[in-house]
Amino acid sequence: MKATFCTRREICALFLFLTVFVLISVLHHMDILEFQPKFNSNIIMPRVSTHPNMIRSFCTFQPLSPEDALEERLILDSTAWPETPLLPAPISLQQTSDPAHSNFTILPGRKGGQWHVGDQLEVMIQTSDFQGRPKKSGGDFLLASLHNRKLEAGVAGQVVDHLNGSYSAVFSLLWEGDAQVEVILVHPGEAISVLNRLNREQPDRMYYKSLFRSGSLSETTLCNACLRPTQQPLCNYTDLRTGEPWFCYKPKSLSCDARINHFRAGSKANLLNANENKLFQSGVNLKVYIRASGPSSVSVLPQREGQLKEKSSTVTSGPSGYYYQGVWRALGGTTVRKFNASTISQCLKGKVVHMYGDSTIRQWFEFFDATLPGLKEFDLHSLRRTGPYMSLDYANNIFVTYRCHGPPIHYYSMSTRELRYIANELDDLVGGPNTVVVFGIWAHFGSFPMEIYIRRLQSIRRAVVGLLDRAPGTLVVIRTANPRYLDLFVSLINSDWYSLQRDKVLRAIFKGLNVHLIDAWEMTLAHHLPHNIHPPPPIIRSMINYLLSNICPQNGG
Ligand SMILES: *[C@@H]1O[C@H](CO)[C@@H](O)[C@H](O)[C@H]1NC(C)=O
Ligand SMILES: *[C@@H]1O[C@H](CO)[C@@H](O)[C@H](O)[C@H]1NC(C)=O
Ligand SMILES: *[C@@H]1O[C@H](CO)[C@@H](O)[C@H](O)[C@H]1NC(C)=O
Ligand SMILES: *[C@@H]1O[C@H](CO)[C@@H](O)[C@H](O)[C@H]1NC(C)=O
Repeated sequence: MKATFCTRREICALFLFLTVFVLISVLHHMDILEFQPKFNSNIIMPRVSTHPNMIRSFCTFQPLSPEDALEERLILDSTAWPETPLLPAPISLQQTSDPAHSNFTILPGRKGGQWHVGDQLEVMIQTSDFQGRPKKSGGDFLLASLHNRKLEAGVAGQVVDHLNGSYSAVFSLLWEGDAQVEVILVHPGEAISVLNRLNREQPDRMYYKSLFRSGSLSETTLCNACLRPTQQPLCNYTDLRTGEPWFCYKPKSLSCDARINHFRAGSKANLLNANENKLFQSGVNLKVYIRASGPSSVSVLPQREGQLKEKSSTVTSGPSGYYYQGVWRALGGTTVRKFNASTISQCLKGKVVHMYGDSTIRQWFEFFDATLPGLKEFDLHSLRRTGPYMSLDYANNIFVTYRCHGPPIHYYSMSTRELRYIANELDDLVGGPNTVVVFGIWAHFGSFPMEIYIRRLQSIRRAVVGLLDRAPGTLVVIRTANPRYLDLFVSLINSDWYSLQRDKVLRAIFKGLNVHLIDAWEMTLAHHLPHNIHPPPPIIRSMINYLLSNICPQNGG
């Protein structure tokens, strides 16, 4: 449904004001989205096609094998989000979920209000709208976690949508003592519908550009995986090995071969109307805590003797780990040890660690660089934050590299020669027992159709399978997505909802492979520190400890 604006002069003025306001807040938030503060002001506004059938046709998807196509369909089905009934236009906030009017209740449990370590805790969440009327439909995005600040303990809960306005959150009780329930409304269902629609109708709302240059001529044009057709011819930079699509409008006087760099050039402003913007208000209905209707914590007693772990009837899978005394304890079999500079060096002795992905992987490279005294970054004259980077420790024969993933990538400016797809990089590796491959690729895909992400991961998986086949000793570690700080601007590009959906895809695609997943999602959710796209040092340290515990499972490394 498209609202028609600018029918009256006052509305036009308001609209202009909002445009300027949104643009200012875009500028203000550049660095939060991992952008550098430089901002290119001459954004080309492509002609927008409103024909419904055009919506997807300007995103190119390479053909898939029958197996991959089937997998894609199953994944798309399994990640389908409950539909939120359309509100009558104009959208009014009144009938959407209001965290201030919603509440949760700790259920007494099977043992009548007594909980022991090993039990499950179940919480019923009832959502209500801004007028206090209980909601009758589902689709809200809620996050739940259990904490004990004194013990530095925390675990993520699992939320089940009953599709009738109520939700369950289920927690594993893993420590003795108090356990405080936290429930957050990330987005009301109506906001999810908006996010979903944006990816269908505006998959090109992030702007990327390339500079073309030859001799004294230079020209800059707009580039994207989803480039709207105009009269202008396209340059097709689809990767011949992986089939990853990428296009730029052809410069008028230069050839497609004259493309020398890639950079993000901002994002489209005023994507939503004023009413839709209200669905994303910090402090109102965007990442806001929901209160308890009664007590919000329970006291957990020691494990009973001979007690079996309680199985939940509501959820089938448990958490992947939890914090206790500030240390992440994985529940999947890996014993997580604490590493210091000298035990890290011992563990990595003789190893090469290749890291690929977005800035959340770069954080790991930076951690090693800052922590290991023997590891020295070799100056490749790379641009700050963009990379590539490499570090060497000659004494211990340690080699660590970082390289960002191929487009779409929001980095400010990169040579086209540095635009590499992870799958191609992996195909070029020898691998072996001294090689560790780490990647994390999620944050730059939020605004694109899911098909683009699925295909990207399918091509990486093909490369991982090949690598493990020819060099079975290679260790492959994948970092998942994590929740982040959100406001309106960030939500429309990289909401936690986009990340959650992509995270499900990642887990599905690499399921059953001999790879190690580092559950950044739960490690962030279970921690008491605020969500941040770049998790703060204690969380990074936990991730690194887990990574190293996978690289060096025995004592002493
Ligand atoms: C919603 O569904 C759940 C699960 O079936 C049920 O326990 C709950 O009572 C229902 N709530 C309402 C308000 O109908
Ligand atoms: C772009 O190039 C790829 C690889 O050569 C080709 O398969 C694809 O059809 C081309 N796309 C367009 C829109 O020309
Ligand atoms: C919790 O929400 C329910 C449903 O809206 C409402 O009936 C109840 O009064 C609320 N409890 C508190 C303590 O606000
Ligand atoms: C690092 O940890 C090891 C093993 O736990 C310990 O023996 C050593 O003293 C620690 N080194 C430093 C510098 O803390």
